[in-house]
Amino acid sequence: MSRRIYIETYGCQMNVADSELMLGRFRSAGYERAELPGEADVILLNTCAIREHAEQRIYGRLGELSRYKVRRPGVVLGVAGCMAQHLKGRLLERVPLVDIVVGPDAYRDLPLLIDQAREEPVLATRLSRDETYADLAPARADGVRAWISIMRGCDKFCAFCIVPYVRGRERSLPVGDVIKQVEHAAAEGFKEVVLLGQTVNAYRDGDVDFAELLRRADRVHGIERIRFTSPHPADMTDRAVEAIATCAKVCPHVHLPLQSGSDAVLDRMRRTYTIAHYETLVAKLRAAIPGLSLTTDIIVGFPGETEADFEATRAAMLRTRYDAAFVFKYSPRPGARSAEWPETVDEAEKTRRISLLIEEQKQTSLEINDAAIGGEVEVLVEGPARRDPKQWFGKTLQFKTAVFPHRDENVGDTLRMRVAEVSPYTLFGDGVPAAIRTAEDVTV
Ligand code: SAH
Ligand code: SF4
Ligand code: F3S
Repeated sequence: MSRRIYIETYGCQMNVADSELMLGRFRSAGYERAELPGEADVILLNTCAIREHAEQRIYGRLGELSRYKVRRPGVVLGVAGCMAQHLKGRLLERVPLVDIVVGPDAYRDLPLLIDQAREEPVLATRLSRDETYADLAPARADGVRAWISIMRGCDKFCAFCIVPYVRGRERSLPVGDVIKQVEHAAAEGFKEVVLLGQTVNAYRDGDVDFAELLRRADRVHGIERIRFTSPHPADMTDRAVEAIATCAKVCPHVHLPLQSGSDAVLDRMRRTYTIAHYETLVAKLRAAIPGLSLTTDIIVGFPGETEADFEATRAAMLRTRYDAAFVFKYSPRPGARSAEWPETVDEAEKTRRISLLIEEQKQTSLEINDAAIGGEVEVLVEGPARRDPKQWFGKTLQFKTAVFPHRDENVGDTLRMRVAEVSPYTLFGDGVPAAIRTAEDVTV
């Protein structure tokens, strides 16, 4: 009987893509996929280290999963991803039931490493300057959306951030391999691709920059929508803005992390842009891309963030009026530069600041969505809605969740939905949406 692999994924979309890559490696080595940890011979957690809370969750989950090992000692329990890279051998010491700790640049030979881990604990946490896995086929999850990493690592070294230490130096996949992956996704029936990288718009392969890559991806038949995340404001060239605006399949949604609205804080964070530069960029994007939806990431309570700095962030968010924002409490990450700086904002104050921003953002999101009532949106159908399976859901071009009464639509169809009601996070349609394209239609 063939062996079975179970992977649980935490963290960002790059980890989702990496898990599919690992599943591809296991598939080549003759493994089958297990849907539940209790059915697996190999249990892997693909982990995140971005905030302390992310690591706490993993420790909790490892505690739960260790019962499968106690019950069946042959089971291999492994930790992959950013927390593995961050803690290395300390993870084996702290959780002795873990058999293998494997970092993001060591997935190529993962099935072999697992075989070794059956004999003795394995630590595989060497970072590489050039590993991109460009030639490897991921085993993608079913659905309409394919995640494609186009670059790995990060060279920005923002003061708060662990990513450059756990994912290594920035490197781009060869453009030919990226386009092959987009074509392959189209051939597998995916309607949408999301190009991924920590600074995705820093992509470069020789003369091909991010703008040119978008143009080439835009020409791939069968793919209907192209998205990307996360661009860095400092890498957003005019060429890129123009490509986003003019490529028919590139969706009008940009996730543009701001982090703080105070120049003093941005400077200490080493974000390399000022609020004025950022807002000029937003104005350019909005002028070039009709119906643009903008989302962002914000950190509150960075060391030295004064009340005035916080108010500057609050004001910046109200000025830009994001469609959505992810707001985080600053979490010192050992290894990142700012972890050495004393924390000046206590937990209660962080909570006050984050709650205020979340509340105000909710109001803004609701106002923006309210304005869509009565209009029509284009929805790519994904499947039954979580709360009520008689309703189905999909994403709009702006990456908003749309929920509508299901009749005979199929996953992968594109509909025109009339917006009847909204919440800050969702658009609700009434009546029967009109079909624009079915899943079988192939676009050019
Ligand atoms: N590459 C992206 C960010 C990836 S991490 C960029 O440069 O924008 C996702 C988000 O996590 C960041 O945008 C930031 O808001 C948040 N984050 C990163 N490190 C953090 C930390 N130490 N504490 C709190 N939030 C953090
Ligand atoms: Fe982290 Fe900054 Fe790189 Fe984003 S750009 S991954 S925040 S170091
Ligand atoms: Fe987390 Fe690693 Fe992504 S730290 S956010 S999983 S790159």
